[in-house]
Amino acid sequence: MDINDPLGRLATHLSDDMAATSAIIGEQTSSPIPLAGAITSHLFSAGGKRTRPLLLLACARLCGYEGTLHHIMAAAAEMIHTATLLHDDVVDKSTRRRGRETAHLLYGEREAILGGDFLLGRAFSMISAGSPESFKVMADAAATLAEGELHQLSLTGSPFVDEEEYFRIITAKTATLFEAVCAMGAIIAGASPEQRQALANFGRHFGIAFQLVDDALDYKIQNTHTGKPIGNDFREGKMTLPVILARAAGSDEERKFWDTRMIAPSRTESDFSQALEFIIAHGSVEETLVRAEKHARNAEECLAFLPHSSLREMMMEAVESCPQRTA
Ligand code: IPE
Ligand code: IPE
Ligand code: MG
Ligand code: MG
Repeated sequence: MDINDPLGRLATHLSDDMAATSAIIGEQTSSPIPLAGAITSHLFSAGGKRTRPLLLLACARLCGYEGTLHHIMAAAAEMIHTATLLHDDVVDKSTRRRGRETAHLLYGEREAILGGDFLLGRAFSMISAGSPESFKVMADAAATLAEGELHQLSLTGSPFVDEEEYFRIITAKTATLFEAVCAMGAIIAGASPEQRQALANFGRHFGIAFQLVDDALDYKIQNTHTGKPIGNDFREGKMTLPVILARAAGSDEERKFWDTRMIAPSRTESDFSQALEFIIAHGSVEETLVRAEKHARNAEECLAFLPHSSLREMMMEAVESCPQRTA
C-alpha cells in the first residue's frame, strides 16, 4: 500500500490487523484440490486494494473493539469480494484483473465459477464464528450483490437505463457489501444501534462513490493503474453513468449513436473511440466524479456521529480521497 494515499495510511495504521487478516486468508483458501488453490492464489497473490477488510477492521476499532474476531470477518469479507470478482469477470468477459490475465481465461469459465463458489462456502463457514445477526448481514449482502449483477445483466444493450435505475444497480452490486462490512465492524464491537446505523450509512455512501469512480475510470485513457483494461463497460453494452450523462446531453444524432450501438450485439474499437469523443465533449467523466464527491461527502458526514479520534480522521480522509483514486 502507498502510504502517501489516505487509504494506504489507514492500512498502515491498522497494519497488524491487516497482516492477521491476510494470514487467515492464506490459511482458509488452501485446499487439497490443486485447482481450487491455484485459482484462488492467482487472485490473492496479485494483491488488490483490500478496501472491504480495511473498512471492517477500521469500523470495529472505531467502536472500541479489542478482540480478534474482526480478523476472521475481514478475511471472509475479502473472500466474498474475490468470489464476486471471479464470477463478475465471467459475466463481463473481462480479460485482465489486478494486472493479470483473468482466471476464467487461464483456467476456464467453469473452473472460475466453481473457484468463486469454493470461496463463498469457506467465507460463510468463517462468518458462522460470529452472531446469527452478523451472519444475516453478510448473507443478505451477498444475495443483494448477485441481484444487482443480474439486474445489470438483464439491461445489457438497453440504452434506456436512467440515473435512478443505474443508482439502484450500483447500490446493490457494490455499496451493499461496503455497507455490510461497516455494519459488521460495529456489530462485532457491540456498538449502539445509532453508531451501527451511522457506520452502515457511511459504508453505503462510500460504496456508491467507489463504484462511480470505477465507472469513470473505465473511460479514462490516462493515469490509471487499475490493472483492468479500459472500455470494457462499453464493449459489454453497459449503461454506466458516463454514458447515461453523455446520451442525455447529446444531440439527436449522438443519441442515435448510443441507441444503435448499445443495442448491437457487439461494438468495435472505432465505436469506442467515437463514444470517448462524446463523453469527453460533454465532460461526462468529470460529472460522474462530481457525483462521487457528493457521496464521499455524505459518507464523511455519517462519521461525524462517532466520537472524534485520529482513526476517525483517517477514515474521513480515506473516503474524501476516493474520487481522486486512479487504482
Ligand atoms: C472491483 O473492486 C469491483 C468493484 C466493485 C468496482 P476493487 O476495485 O475493490 O478491486 P480490488 O479488490 O482492489 O482488485
Ligand atoms: C462491480 O462492477 C462488480 C461486482 C460487484 C463484483 P464492475 O463490473 O464494474 O467491476 P469491475 O470493473 O469488473 O472490477
Ligand atoms: Mg466487471
Ligand atoms: Mg468496472
